[in-house]
Amino acid sequence: MGKPSRLPESGPAHVGIIMDGNGRWARLRGLPRSRGHQEGLQAARGIVQSAAELGLSYLTLYVFSTENWKRTSDEVGFIMGLVRQYLKKEIDFCKSNFIRVRHAGNRKGLDEDILNDLDDVCRETEHFSGLQVILALNYGGRDEIIRAIGKVTERGLPLSEENLTLCLDNPDIPEPDLIIRTAGEFRTSNFLLWQGAYSEYHISSKLWPDWTGSDLEEAINIYNMRERRFGAVYEDVR
Ligand code: IPE
Ligand code: IPE
Ligand code: MG
Repeated sequence: MGKPSRLPESGPAHVGIIMDGNGRWARLRGLPRSRGHQEGLQAARGIVQSAAELGLSYLTLYVFSTENWKRTSDEVGFIMGLVRQYLKKEIDFCKSNFIRVRHAGNRKGLDEDILNDLDDVCRETEHFSGLQVILALNYGGRDEIIRAIGKVTERGLPLSEENLTLCLDNPDIPEPDLIIRTAGEFRTSNFLLWQGAYSEYHISSKLWPDWTGSDLEEAINIYNMRERRFGAVYEDVR
């Protein structure tokens, strides 16, 4: 897929975050899981603000996976309620900070009202040129690849890496340079499988509700010290 566009000493343009550990955060405090999700939303707000201040171009937040429907209907309902709240409340913050909101994931399965709110916030912020926040909601990497293959076929294109990339949910967004996973789990859980082929991973043991802007800065600083080789020998890609 060509030579790397970013060298390790330059900062990441796109950071993806697998925001994990809300349930454990609540359990440690003897609280219901829902409280963990509530605190997780506050952490997400803070991280969006920090990412904007840091001058990051793209931030993808893994909000709800295609597998998270396996949870109890109470928990799913609670998370979707928080999503509704975020979409309605955050629009002013996004507007005053020139933040563009986008969606990645399958629209099928999401409630009509959530889709409407999502479409509204995406449309109302689409002209902003600051940070782009991509909400991975009802998102699964496998699902995105399967839908992309469907579009390739529908458009009568030959199946190739380039054509499949063009048919992803947000084809104009560069691949994530850095993928952060909180709560100490060492797995992708179906996040950005195609785009993350050469992403650098940062695993933090901190639970998501405890994450702040300084954790994001630390992850970026560590990323900045890495050597990205993309399969080549480092001397040749400098
Ligand atoms: C992440 O926290 C939020 C979602 C997956 C929606 P979890 O709810 O997975 O928290 P743990 O993993 O149970 O601690
Ligand atoms: C990944 O976390 C999904 C999101 C953060 C939205 P999970 O908690 O669902 O992942 P697993 O089940 O531990 O792999
Ligand atoms: Mg989890």
